[in-house]
Amino acid sequence: MPGPARTPGDPTARAALSSPPTLAPGLPLRRLARLSTQGPELRATVVAAPHLASLVPGAQTELWCFNGEYPGPIIEIEEGQRAVLTFQNGLGIDSTVHWHGLPVPPDQDGSPMDPVPAQGERVYAFDIPVGTAGTYWYHPHAHRTTTLQVGHGLAAPLIVVDPADPLLALPIHERVLMVTALGLDASGRVAVPSASMGMPSTALASIELLVNGQKMPVLTAAPGATERWRILNATADRFLRLSLDGRAFAVVGTDGGLLGESLAGVTEWLLTPGQRVELVVTIDRRPSSQFTLRDLGYGGGMMNGMGRPLMTVRTSTDAPMDHVLLPARLRELPDIGAPAAEQNVLLSPAGMGMMSGTFLINGRTFDMNRVDLASVAGRIERWNFTNATPMDHPMHIHGTQFQVVSRTIRGVEFAEGYRAWLDTVNVPAGQSVSIKVRQAMPGKRMFHCHILPHEDAGMMAVLDVRPA
Ligand code: C2O
Ligand code: CU
Ligand code: CU
Repeated sequence: MPGPARTPGDPTARAALSSPPTLAPGLPLRRLARLSTQGPELRATVVAAPHLASLVPGAQTELWCFNGEYPGPIIEIEEGQRAVLTFQNGLGIDSTVHWHGLPVPPDQDGSPMDPVPAQGERVYAFDIPVGTAGTYWYHPHAHRTTTLQVGHGLAAPLIVVDPADPLLALPIHERVLMVTALGLDASGRVAVPSASMGMPSTALASIELLVNGQKMPVLTAAPGATERWRILNATADRFLRLSLDGRAFAVVGTDGGLLGESLAGVTEWLLTPGQRVELVVTIDRRPSSQFTLRDLGYGGGMMNGMGRPLMTVRTSTDAPMDHVLLPARLRELPDIGAPAAEQNVLLSPAGMGMMSGTFLINGRTFDMNRVDLASVAGRIERWNFTNATPMDHPMHIHGTQFQVVSRTIRGVEFAEGYRAWLDTVNVPAGQSVSIKVRQAMPGKRMFHCHILPHEDAGMMAVLDVRPA
């Protein structure tokens, strides 16, 4: 079903895109534009505006894009630098920019409490602390229209670089792979998923899964090459069960950057909406061979079960590269510490049950004027998410990174097998997930399901972090 009524942007601003998406498969994978600086401060302007693209014969599609790019430009920033980003809202509705996963002050977080009005402007400024190197992203977070805005194309990567990253010293080729979903109806208009029926996506529209704005692009690499892929799931509602046609790869990083030790021999990885993963992939040594980066499809209660290919990886006829041995330890990743408080977060279906597509957090639907949980800056807490609905929900907390402690399945608690920094964790249908989390700064923070139609329908709550 098509989503809420589309709100057209300012028609005077509808310039053609400088980097439009393409639905023609088989083109060389493109590199996204980058905003970066050598100096201590990254100053840039990020403009959200409507643009027209020719995607289906005989029709023009209106997309909403950052700086005329689909997806938007990568903001690349080093630990210790400061970001000063002017946001111009060229849309016809309120918007914001949310810096997903970064520990920015609450008043710089682009939450729905801080809308930037249509045609308005504001500056977001924040420091990038040491230790935050990782793969993040930025997207609008306006009240009830996040699905609409992200679904029209407003999403982009934000990479925090640690110059001492141990993998940077090795002959490893790095790529950013931004996965987005583009739904188009029969007349070429963008159709975004709605929460009704609890179904993830428009039944009437075709949904394309794009990598860097391209359908089934081709990544070409030298035989035997070692590659580091930063993969972002910026779709509104699609769980990606990533595989490389059965080839083993190493997982070296998650939402909040590198793991302590890489996970070798992985053949499948579930990447929920909102999450990121860093893989190290060794390309086949045989020249002129190929394999596919694929979403195998994921049941997850009611979620989209059908898989589909995302990208072709082709081996060139260049001279083969030498094998690269990954360091055993990637970085220190200490346990977050012993919790001093506990919070329980119950996810449940609303009213008429699961078919309404509306889900509650601790029995309530989102109200930005209410505080749902209270915390204290600097306090380590254990949060227990319990999912009493028939579908999975990827739960996201703003302003920090957390560690998963355990998962409880049919009453049996299993300790998490590895330590990682996450800002979004899948809470499978009928299960519980316990995390340890600490908010450094006082202020109000959102936490919500990152299936965007769920968030827009009210599966979001307010955490009030009080000064210590
Ligand atoms: Cu990407 Cu409130 O999230
Ligand atoms: Cu966020
Ligand atoms: Cu959800």
